[in-house]
Amino acid sequence: MNADDDRFELWLKEAEQQHLADLTFPQVTSGLRALSSTYVERRRRLGEGAALDGTGKRAAFALFYGPLHFLTVRAIVRALPDALRAANGSTLADLGCGTGAAGAAWAASCVDTPRVIGIDRHPWALGEAARTYRAFGLTARTVRGDIASVSLPKGPVSMLAAFTMNELADASRDALMQRLLDRAAAGDRLLIVEPIAGFVARWWERWRVSVEQMGGRADEWRFRVDLPPIVAKLDRAAKLDHRELTARSLWIGREQD
Ligand SMILES: C[S@@+](CC[C@H](N)C(=O)[O-])C[C@H]1O[C@@H](n2cnc3c(N)ncnc32)[C@H](O)[C@@H]1O
Repeated sequence: MNADDDRFELWLKEAEQQHLADLTFPQVTSGLRALSSTYVERRRRLGEGAALDGTGKRAAFALFYGPLHFLTVRAIVRALPDALRAANGSTLADLGCGTGAAGAAWAASCVDTPRVIGIDRHPWALGEAARTYRAFGLTARTVRGDIASVSLPKGPVSMLAAFTMNELADASRDALMQRLLDRAAAGDRLLIVEPIAGFVARWWERWRVSVEQMGGRADEWRFRVDLPPIVAKLDRAAKLDHRELTARSLWIGREQD
């Protein structure tokens, strides 16, 4: 076990203590079922912030999807060439940071740790993200804002949007994607991660082509993982199956100077 794994375990243990102090395990399981149904069947309500509108769903995000996103993004950045070589003194912009899991996974894996800016419109998520970044020893700040219009930090920046672009309305997503590609063309690094799901495929192709034309790459990933005990227990209780993690990514980046 390395320091990264220790921090991951401690981070999750702290979340468990916090959320299971107020809720029973069956209540978190119902929250997880409700959250999963919001993501899959009631997607149009995501724009209203429905994913995080209740203590059960928040606990499920913190104890289930957050850790899964952490493990997925960490496996992706370890596999992508040069993703761990951020420029010395650079910033990682965690767009739609949620609980900060994906941003922490990337930042904490880098050879020269970047400072992190976590941006989200949801105040609860920002509080959790601050806790997450702290748990991984990262220098970070959080900003409440709409990623569709927020100004991006000055370069060099590693821009991450994990499981977030699919929550934007089409016009906002297109405008943000173009802005991110313009920054990538100017030398910043870009990683977009999304589920392998039909509701993403609808807009993915177009941006995949643009990214590949810029010399970037598109991948689909499958990783077998040992789930942490609380995640495995929730997975079984909610009759889900995440023993294999899957995701797709768009990546534009090279080692920064
Ligand atoms: C599924 S969560 C993913 C969180 C995190 N990136 C992760 O991988 O765990 C999506 C997050 O995007 C945020 N979000 C969605 N649309 C947004 C917008 N227009 N501006 C800022 N945040 C947004 C939501 O509040 C939520 O925290």
